[in-house]
Amino acid sequence: MDKKVTVIGAGHVGATTAQRIAEKELADVVLVDVVDGIPQGKGLDMLESAPIEGFDTRVVGTQDYDETRNSDVIVVTAGIARKPGMSRDDLLNTNAGIVHSVVKESVLRSPDAIIIVVTNPLDVMCSVAKKASGFPRENVIGMAGVLDSARFRAFLAMELDTSVQNISALVLGGHGDSMVPLARYTTVAGIPITELLPQKTIDALVQRTRDGGAEIVGLLKAGSAFYAPSAAAAEMTEAILKDQKKILPCSVHLMGEYGVEGVFVGVPVKLGAGGVLEILEIKITEDEKRLLHASADAVRSTLNKLDLDG
Ligand code: NAI
Ligand code: 2OP
Repeated sequence: MDKKVTVIGAGHVGATTAQRIAEKELADVVLVDVVDGIPQGKGLDMLESAPIEGFDTRVVGTQDYDETRNSDVIVVTAGIARKPGMSRDDLLNTNAGIVHSVVKESVLRSPDAIIIVVTNPLDVMCSVAKKASGFPRENVIGMAGVLDSARFRAFLAMELDTSVQNISALVLGGHGDSMVPLARYTTVAGIPITELLPQKTIDALVQRTRDGGAEIVGLLKAGSAFYAPSAAAAEMTEAILKDQKKILPCSVHLMGEYGVEGVFVGVPVKLGAGGVLEILEIKITEDEKRLLHASADAVRSTLNKLDLDG
């Protein structure tokens, strides 16, 4: 393959993301983890599935960052995951240290890469990655909106007994309890859901989307979701590697767009070879703007608990 993706963190999300990228033949994959043997074992196991699955991607697991040299995309999943009763913000300090160190190591070897951040608390970890890399905002993108929108789409498909492929949804804001699923921009075969479902049902599905991560944590008891998160990270990786110019909700560093300044928050962006090609400023109502600002404020207050210069 002429493209290379490094996935840092060979846990649930990282390993499954690596598998999806390899099986789709998007790029050769380097899987990195701090625990000796885990990336090597999972990488080799994946490679041994290639003859059956029929992919020619190379997968290697390592602890040596030199093997990540000249990656096109770096997916950061390293960190600790949420446990039952633990909020995303509880993960803050541990994961900030991890994200800072793995990003520093990676960008030394891949100075032109696009970084996709997955580690929680997501929007704040994006700021950590941006600071550690010194990259422009186009090169640092957070994965959350694609996942949150997919959850909303899945719940709507179940409710309406229709194909998920008919459903297009948009979730803005930070990846937390204050995320903003936009019912007005959510359609089924082009029909706004407000025409198809009573407001009470929409409200319940919006709330289930907001609680989507916690619902899986509650069921799994140990660890958090990884099938849908890895699918979301792989979709973003594909959009970048293939220069698809795909519009997806992603966490980006806002500089005045939507009246938000200096924090990462989820909004619709166009993803392609340069990372963020465009931030789309769609029309939102005063009510939606208020919710988006409340979500941005929640991200900012978590960010303020970190000393990014220290
Ligand atoms: P996991 O615990 O299965 O895997 C994390 C991996 O990171 C482990 O293998 C661990 O050894 C590794 N790691 C820790 N420190 C490291 C370091 N310094 N260098 C390299 N590797 C290191 O966790 P899982 O389920 O894969 O989740 C990973 C992260 O992604 C968590 O922070 C989780 O909360 C977050 N997440 C975010 C989502 C989103 O929507 N943005 C969705 C799902 C998970
Ligand atoms: C999720 O939404 C834990 O943030 C993760 O599943």
